[in-house]
Amino acid sequence: MDSNITPHQFSITREDRAYSHQHPAFVLWFTGLSGSGKSTIANAVEKALFEKGMHTYSLDGDNIRGGINKGLGFSEADRTENLRRIAEVAKLFVDAGIITLAAFISPTHKDRAQVRNIIGETDFFEIYVDTPLHICEQRDPKGLYKKARAGEIKNFTGIDAPYEAPLQPDLILKTEEEPVPELVKKVLTFVQSLIEKK
Ligand code: PPS
Repeated sequence: MDSNITPHQFSITREDRAYSHQHPAFVLWFTGLSGSGKSTIANAVEKALFEKGMHTYSLDGDNIRGGINKGLGFSEADRTENLRRIAEVAKLFVDAGIITLAAFISPTHKDRAQVRNIIGETDFFEIYVDTPLHICEQRDPKGLYKKARAGEIKNFTGIDAPYEAPLQPDLILKTEEEPVPELVKKVLTFVQSLIEKK
């Protein structure tokens, strides 16, 4: 931080904000290939938490790449900057006492390590939506794999840009082995265990 900038100490702390909603705050970070099911699962998890009265927010491509990160593309450097800004935003949401769900490809160990550092070890939980490339490609919900194979999209994750699977995720969800509602239950059980521990 610039030496002429002094952070102000606010009277209401992060804990005050979180516990006014009767639960702690943290980030559930969903990583996986395009079409792996990250957003579908994150959306269903948020809905279930919200219906239990929890204070939640989802960060995803629509509110990030269409807004604060408009103008960033898919080069290695742009993805790193995309994810750095998202991590900073997620950190603010946690400070506001909100359970924050983030669903981004976040393809490399380096980028996810940066996210973990920004958010902080104790508030960042990595959920690997482990759907193999051939399944994502079969699903191809947005027709992007087809375009990438045809060379119409460059740097497409899994085709001509890397995806490095997390080595020690907090949770692994295998969408080709279990239906979405079962996977959502797994995440909810995990969230419950976090709330009990925190
Ligand atoms: S990243 O790598 O974390 O910065 O990517 P992210 O912000 O999650 O954006 C992924 C969505 O952008 C669409 N898209 C691409 N994905 C991968 N590679 C390339 N080149 C690309 N171009 C566009 C794609 O629809 C991703 O959406 P999801 O929801 O992951 O399928």
